[in-house]
Amino acid sequence: MKGKYAGAGVGGADVWGHLTADQLNHLTDIGQQLFMARFTVEDGAGRPGATQAIVPTKRKHPVLNEFSRTAGIDANACSSCHNLPFPGGAGDFTTNVFVSEGFESADFDTTDPQFSDERGTNSLFGDGLLELLAREMTTDLQKERGDAIALAAQTGEPQRVALETKGVKYGWITAQPDGLVDMRELDGIDMDLVIRPFSQKGVMTSLRQFTVNALNQHHGMEPVERFGGRWTGTTDFDEDGHPDEVSDGDVSALVAWQATLPAPVQKVPDDPKWRQMAEDGEKLFTGIGCTSCHMESLPLDSLSFSDPGPEDMAGTLNVTQVKEPAVYDLSQRDWTKKLKRNDKGQVLVPLFGDLKRHTMTDNDIDQLGNELIAQRFVDRNIFMTAELWGVASTPPYGHRNDITTMDGVIRAHGGDGRKARDAYVNASDEDRSKIIAFLKTLEIEQ
Ligand code: HEC
Ligand code: HEC
Repeated sequence: MKGKYAGAGVGGADVWGHLTADQLNHLTDIGQQLFMARFTVEDGAGRPGATQAIVPTKRKHPVLNEFSRTAGIDANACSSCHNLPFPGGAGDFTTNVFVSEGFESADFDTTDPQFSDERGTNSLFGDGLLELLAREMTTDLQKERGDAIALAAQTGEPQRVALETKGVKYGWITAQPDGLVDMRELDGIDMDLVIRPFSQKGVMTSLRQFTVNALNQHHGMEPVERFGGRWTGTTDFDEDGHPDEVSDGDVSALVAWQATLPAPVQKVPDDPKWRQMAEDGEKLFTGIGCTSCHMESLPLDSLSFSDPGPEDMAGTLNVTQVKEPAVYDLSQRDWTKKLKRNDKGQVLVPLFGDLKRHTMTDNDIDQLGNELIAQRFVDRNIFMTAELWGVASTPPYGHRNDITTMDGVIRAHGGDGRKARDAYVNASDEDRSKIIAFLKTLEIEQ
């Protein structure tokens, strides 16, 4: 970017290694300004020659209208959508995005679900902790795979092992003595055993990857790390007359701000009646099986967030492309000091989720089966468990943001969620109110 936000970094220097609290604050200030900036044509907004596709792709037809609610560009700032209850949060139905991987149908100009999957805006509060959990869980699962392969080779016998990390189960793999691994029994995760914590579908790996996608899709602000000369042979891939629009440092600042956004909290209601109902409701929420997916917390070993992270690949700046990643110590932040720890000293991340994908429809209950396009070869009716932290601050609900009440979205759980949903539906009016009273204590706080 030229002008005000050019070359985000600490005092003009590159951002590598462990940052002091002051350096991190400086970087997140820049990140916040970028998140709230209304991008203009002077900054390089717009992509007359390129599509929203994740892989750099030229348009086949000249663009008639730069702004379009369908294939984008569709907004002026990140905070145009992520603004509920304040910047970094979720959005209401009007901020929905029409997600299409791009390629063939990049130029779609209809909201017809044959061309894209319509998604509601997710809140970003606590996302740094989600990415850290996902990285640790990926390491565990890949080690389990490595151990199984080694044991199969050593014993000459196939080894069928359960994949489990932090109490979440991802099915089984069977390693053969010749080193091949049978993945047919995997559950809720990709074949590479990388946990992808982001998007409603659970198909995006890191804040960095998502940020690069979003800058191009929503704003036509093309980061050098994906659209620059190294990969595309030109510094102005989107043909808007602005070379090298978003520097690596700009993306780092955006990531640092998002990664340090506080985790949502559980409020203790002032009103004694509500307080009692919420307490009872939390027990019912566990008792009827909601916590089989919306797990109260997952334990995290380390609060050091490194960027770029370990799982990104070409097209997103990654560890192989930098001298040394920048490391942000989230334990410096006041809000992390309030998080509970277990007896092993691990931080309990109160996400009310499991970072796993589940089938959400069956023959009777199929309201959440409205998408027609399978994204990244994940079936159309499969979604990642929505983290319920902050849920009281982010109506409406469901991946299309088209369900106005919590009661409505709970009733819409089919498939793997059917048993718990039926227990909710068959409970007394009072018990259902208690569960809602509990969910209404899960807030995003400034
Ligand atoms: C037009 C509305 C809109 C704009 C503008 C927008 N987003 Fe989003 N954002 C969304 C929607 C919708 C999703 C959910 C997408 C999905 O599930 O496929 C999302 C999801 C995300 C996620 C994943 C969060 C999670 O927990 O799953 C990140 C990170 C993100 N956006 C960052 C950004 C950044 C950074 C910008 C600006 C460069 C931005 N967004 C601009 C609508 C928007
Ligand atoms: C099989 C796993 C599973 C179980 C069990 C389950 N959920 Fe969910 N829940 C999900 C998934 C997946 C989503 C996201 C659905 C979507 O948007 O497509 C979700 C979404 C939600 C949402 C909406 C969140 C939002 O921001 O849109 C609420 C509220 C919710 N669940 C409450 C409950 C309650 C209460 C129970 C127990 C009666 C329950 N869930 C049981 C998997 C589950």
